[in-house]
Amino acid sequence: MRISVLGCGWLGFPLAQHLLKNDFVVKGSTTSKDKLPQISQAGIDSYLIELPKSLTDPNVDSFWNTDILFFNIPPGRGNKNVLTEYPEMVQGVVNRVKQNPDIWIIFASSTSVYSETGGITSEDDAKPGTASRPSGEAILASEAILRESGIDYTILRFGGLYGYGRHPVNHLSGKQNLKSPCKPVNLVHQSDCVRVVDEIIRQKRRNKIYNVVSDGHPPRKEFYRSAAKHFNLPLPEFGPPEDIQFRVVSNQKQKNDLNFSFSYPNPMDHTP
Ligand SMILES: NC(=O)c1ccc[n+]([C@@H]2O[C@H](COP(=O)([O-])OP(=O)(O)OC[C@H]3O[C@@H](n4cnc5c(N)ncnc54)[C@H](OP(=O)(O)O)[C@@H]3O)[C@@H](O)[C@H]2O)c1
Repeated sequence: MRISVLGCGWLGFPLAQHLLKNDFVVKGSTTSKDKLPQISQAGIDSYLIELPKSLTDPNVDSFWNTDILFFNIPPGRGNKNVLTEYPEMVQGVVNRVKQNPDIWIIFASSTSVYSETGGITSEDDAKPGTASRPSGEAILASEAILRESGIDYTILRFGGLYGYGRHPVNHLSGKQNLKSPCKPVNLVHQSDCVRVVDEIIRQKRRNKIYNVVSDGHPPRKEFYRSAAKHFNLPLPEFGPPEDIQFRVVSNQKQKNDLNFSFSYPNPMDHTP
C-alpha cells in the first residue's frame, strides 16, 4: 500500500515515519528544500511541493500516483483570502488525483468547523455559517468538495494538537485578563492522532467523518494554570467567567466505531 503525506509538518512527519515502520511505501512532501534531506534520511520518498503551483509540476507526478493521500495542510489563520484559496487548493488536489482508480483521501480537518457555543457537539453539527472562525468555514467548504468529489474520503476533525514540545500554554503563559476561564478545552495528543489514522486505514473506514478529540475537557483556566505550573512558566491570568454555553466536541462516534481508547485521554495529565 502506498501513502502520500501531503505536508510532512508537525503531525505529517511522525505519521509518515509510523506508517513506514508498518510496511507502507511512504511519500512525503514539504515546501522547504532544507527539509528534503531530513525526510529522505527517514526512509520516506521526499518531494518538494508547494500548492497550488506544484499541481502542474511534472517532476512530482509520482507523488500523486498513490493509494492513499493524507491531506495535511493547515488553512493559515491569518490569510484574508482563506475562504476562497483553501477550498480552491483542495479542489486542485481532487482534480489532480481523481484519475487514480481507488484513491482514498484522508483529510486533516479541524473542530474549528463547529460553532464555539453549541454545547455537546457531534459530527452532524457542522453547519455552514456557524464555524468559530473563517478558517473553519474554509475547512468546512473544503470538506464539502471532498464529499461531493466521487473520490473515497475520510474526514478527521482534530481538536487542538499538542504533545512532544508543542503545548498551547506556550501561547498564553504570563498573559493577563484572558477571556473564557470556564471554556472547555478540546485537544488531542500527537501520538493519539497517529494511532487514529493508523486505525482508520487498518479498518478501512472510508467515506466517514470523525471527531478526533481526547476524553478530558477541563476548563481553560484550570488547564492552562496547571500546565504553566507543570512546565515552570509564568501563570496566565484570567478575567471573569462569561455566561455562555461552550462547545464540547464529542469523540463518542470515533471511539465506538474504531473501538479506540486514547493513550492520552486527559490533557490535564501533562504527559510528554
Ligand atoms: N495545529 C492544530 O492545533 C490543528 C488543529 C486541528 C487541525 N489541524 C490540522 O492538522 C493538520 C496538521 O497540522 P500541523 O500543525 O501538523 O501543521 P504544520 O506543522 O504547519 O505542517 C503543515 C505542512 O503542510 C505544508 N504546507 C503548508 N503550506 C503548504 C502549501 N501551500 N503547499 C504544500 N504544502 C504546504 C508544510 O510545509 P513545510 O514542511 O515546508 O513547513 C508542512 O509540511 C493540518 O491540516 C491542520 O489544519 C491542526
